[in-house]
Amino acid sequence: MAIEQFGICSEPNLHGYYLLFNVMDDRDDEVRAIVASLPEVFDRFGDRFSESNVNCVVAIGASYWDDFFPQARPKGLAPFLGMENEDRIAPAVGYDIYVEVRSDRFDVNHIIASKVCEMFGDSVELVEQTRAFRFLDGRDLTGFVDGTENPQGRHRREVALVKADYDEQFQGGSYLHIQRYRHNLALWGTLKQKQQEDIFARTKMANVEYKSEEKPPTAHIKRVNLKDENGDSIEILRQSMPYGDMKTQGLFFVSYCREPEPFMQMLKAMIYADGHGHFDHMLKYTQAETGAAFFAPSRTLLASL
Ligand code: HEM
Repeated sequence: MAIEQFGICSEPNLHGYYLLFNVMDDRDDEVRAIVASLPEVFDRFGDRFSESNVNCVVAIGASYWDDFFPQARPKGLAPFLGMENEDRIAPAVGYDIYVEVRSDRFDVNHIIASKVCEMFGDSVELVEQTRAFRFLDGRDLTGFVDGTENPQGRHRREVALVKADYDEQFQGGSYLHIQRYRHNLALWGTLKQKQQEDIFARTKMANVEYKSEEKPPTAHIKRVNLKDENGDSIEILRQSMPYGDMKTQGLFFVSYCREPEPFMQMLKAMIYADGHGHFDHMLKYTQAETGAAFFAPSRTLLASL
């Protein structure tokens, strides 16, 4: 049985730091060794700051995978498919390495992220860094609680981790998709509360889901709540967090899954209008500025490198 990276299925934290790197030419051997050692480095910080619930993940970009692990490739790993329909876009940006640092202390995240950057040194270029935070009681900056319908408890592992019967060599790993969304909060703020609630099909303060027959077909949860051919729910595990300063604000969206298709199916249902012209009206108020696909290998695989 492969052991997964513990940050994947962990509970939400108060602070996040998302780091995206590209690897410099001819530095693959060095980078592979550093990546392989990261889970133990994360463990050491977890022990040292045990009250701060350290949860970290390292993942490899779809386009970098073959340089990182030429022996084999996770069977569903493909570059992020950029999408565009009318003024709704999901751009694709390639990154080689993703490091997610989460804990309940801002300073601890800073210490861990600094250590990661120090270890990589000039073998990589840091191309993006986003500091994120828990907002109120787990809300997105639109004011709506985010994560309510996330899989809970042991079911998180079912949803997020590759099973042996899907891909034996890569069991315990996880398909990761990220998108950095930038919100137009000024425009969002012009809506009345009921108009905002209709966009999520949930009430704002009490976070109660609308009755099925009251959900507008354009509501976010209506678009992403998909069923497979057996009528079972298609699920992902979201580890998104709000980010922002006084100029730009939004959501750093993070999806883990045992296979890559669910995220892509949901994103398509958000962006492309269905036969009745319905798409996700949340996208009138937020726009993805990045998008990338990764695979987070199991700890067992990383330790074998
Ligand atoms: C549900 C916000 C992007 C998938 C929700 C909910 C909120 C929310 C407030 C309702 C509460 C909950 O169950 O978590 C946002 C925001 C986004 C965003 C602000 C970007 C700016 C996405 C994307 C996907 C996605 C890109 C997948 C491609 C889901 C799923 C649910 C959900 C699967 C649960 C639906 C259900 O079963 O009721 N989101 N979301 N979200 N979202 Fe998003």
